[in-house]
Amino acid sequence: MRTTYCGLVDTAYLDQTVTLFGWAHRRRDHGGVIFIDLRDREGVVQIVCDPDRPDMFKVAEGVRNEFCLQISGKVRRRPAGTENANMRSGEIEVLCHEIEVLNASVTPPFPLDDENLSENVRLTHRVIDLRRPAMQKNMMLRYKTAMAFRRFLDGQGFIDVETPMLTKSTPEGARDYLVPSRVHDGQFFALPQSPQLFKQLLMVAGYDRYYQITKCFRDEDLRADRQPEFTQVDIETSFLNEHEITAIMEDMIRYVFKEALSVELPNPFPRMPYAEAMARFGSDKPDLRVTLELTDVTDAVTDVAFKVFSGPATTGGRVAAIRVPGGASLSRGEIDGYTEFVKIYGAKGLAYIKVNDASKLNEEGLQSPIVKNIHEQALKTIMERTGAQSGDLIFFGADKTKVVNDALGALRLKVGHEKGYLTGETWRPLWVVDFPMFEYDEDENRWNACHHPFTCPKDEHLELLKTDPGKCLAKAYDLALNGWEIGGGSVRIHRAEVQAKVFDALGIGAEEQQLKFGFLLDALKYGAPPHGGLAFGLDRIVTMMTGAESIRDVIAFPKTQRAQCLLTNAPSLVDEKQLRELHIKLRNPVKAETQA
Ligand code: AMO
Ligand code: AMP
Repeated sequence: MRTTYCGLVDTAYLDQTVTLFGWAHRRRDHGGVIFIDLRDREGVVQIVCDPDRPDMFKVAEGVRNEFCLQISGKVRRRPAGTENANMRSGEIEVLCHEIEVLNASVTPPFPLDDENLSENVRLTHRVIDLRRPAMQKNMMLRYKTAMAFRRFLDGQGFIDVETPMLTKSTPEGARDYLVPSRVHDGQFFALPQSPQLFKQLLMVAGYDRYYQITKCFRDEDLRADRQPEFTQVDIETSFLNEHEITAIMEDMIRYVFKEALSVELPNPFPRMPYAEAMARFGSDKPDLRVTLELTDVTDAVTDVAFKVFSGPATTGGRVAAIRVPGGASLSRGEIDGYTEFVKIYGAKGLAYIKVNDASKLNEEGLQSPIVKNIHEQALKTIMERTGAQSGDLIFFGADKTKVVNDALGALRLKVGHEKGYLTGETWRPLWVVDFPMFEYDEDENRWNACHHPFTCPKDEHLELLKTDPGKCLAKAYDLALNGWEIGGGSVRIHRAEVQAKVFDALGIGAEEQQLKFGFLLDALKYGAPPHGGLAFGLDRIVTMMTGAESIRDVIAFPKTQRAQCLLTNAPSLVDEKQLRELHIKLRNPVKAETQA
């Protein structure tokens, strides 16, 4: 019955009679003539209702926003001067012959073109929110992107294999979502944090090239780029090394951006060791569009009188500087604002030097409360290393290395984007490689796997597993794009003796190994092939493509920052009977009820 989508009617249909279905986006009564903007997922078309067909006109008079309509009419050119160049249907309108209200609508909770809706309102009325053209565009782009991934992977011989949702805890390091077993009293499934172990099992089973676009579940603190359930494009291959894997993957990302967004990404993607990324950008996912960089000056300030610097410099911390070209013109208020900003990341302050005259390494040339407590040799090194010129400003961070990296890493982004220290490029992908195998957990006094315990150490670093685990690098790689981690993976350990050494370094004993990962370790004994892979965050990629502020804008039914669904009101209380069947007794039933 339908001729085409509303948004697709254009001059090709001139003088034809069309039948359209859609929703009344707007209805305007122009004294005698009624205009209805009829909307569907492809866009809007203007319907003109003249009073010379009284039956039709009477129906049109009763139409209100968001009524679901079927209309038939003849396509004609809009009168000169009333065209809209921004729409595919902007040159035409449909002169209505028949209109039928398929269903009326109560007044929507908000006008669909309201730009200033709160997210809570949008998520509570998600169905209406999803009708908005901006959201429909996001969802269509998400679909196009997912299809482009599928086409590429299919073309390269990857096959889609589903893996279980009800499973055992997986090793990605977040908190699990648990599902109680009714059949097995006191036992729980975990929802997968990723298909990691299953995709490795599939490699052992000989499936060679696997992919899956699948949900992962992680109970962690939520942010703009994190959801408790999110979608990975998950990939694993056998018989390829680190370089071969990343080469295919970047071909895929280029293909996907070309297909979905008509964007040509650079070829090849640059690569940077993790250590360099941390040193220069304070981040393992640097935004290379921002030109500001960190400069290390730790060794130059070990013996200065300014304790804020010499303290961390002599106790294993870091002192780093950011040169802001022309930054001497920043106001006191702006500097105070940045000082408050870095406190979010644990920094205790933000020392700075305004370079009024680079030739005078004293309080005359360098305007700053800290200069009198820093000797000339240190000032000279700072000026040389940062390359500071007259008119610049230098910010400093001094603390534990992690605090300095987090604070200055965030500051370079903030100053860079706010003040325009940008390369002008739109897309800057970057492979970050040579990750450390382990990171030290100060609270627990032990080494943790940076990626996961099945990540393969660099061949030349196997000995370090015993002697100096902190220096041991992994065959692990992340893909960063404009400051977001969009994907990450590694070559896996496929031999038992290497796996044993890694478990030793992690202090995971035989019993724990067997309990947690026994099924994988057993499988690896049966001629496991060399294998590796990675996973991309589909939600993050589409968020970047759409330029949306939050990952929630590209997920049809997302959770709030507090991990709730405002549409369905999940999570919610359950019946006592259900709990009993699951062998569960609440510790704090009253509290649960009042919260609900
Ligand atoms: P990783 O934990 O790095 O690796 O996850 C892969 C990618 O998934 C995305 N991502 C998320 N997106 C939205 N919300 C979240 N909470 C979230 N967490 C992660 C990121 C990330 O780069 N099994 C390994 C992959 C492998 O080794 O093959 C894994 O899950 O874009
Ligand atoms: P104070 O000696 O505390 O008055 O600090 C002097 C300057 O050093 C001020 O500009 C502070 O913002 C800055 N500052 C204090 N602590 C730190 C720190 N850990 N890292 C960088 N700058 C700091």
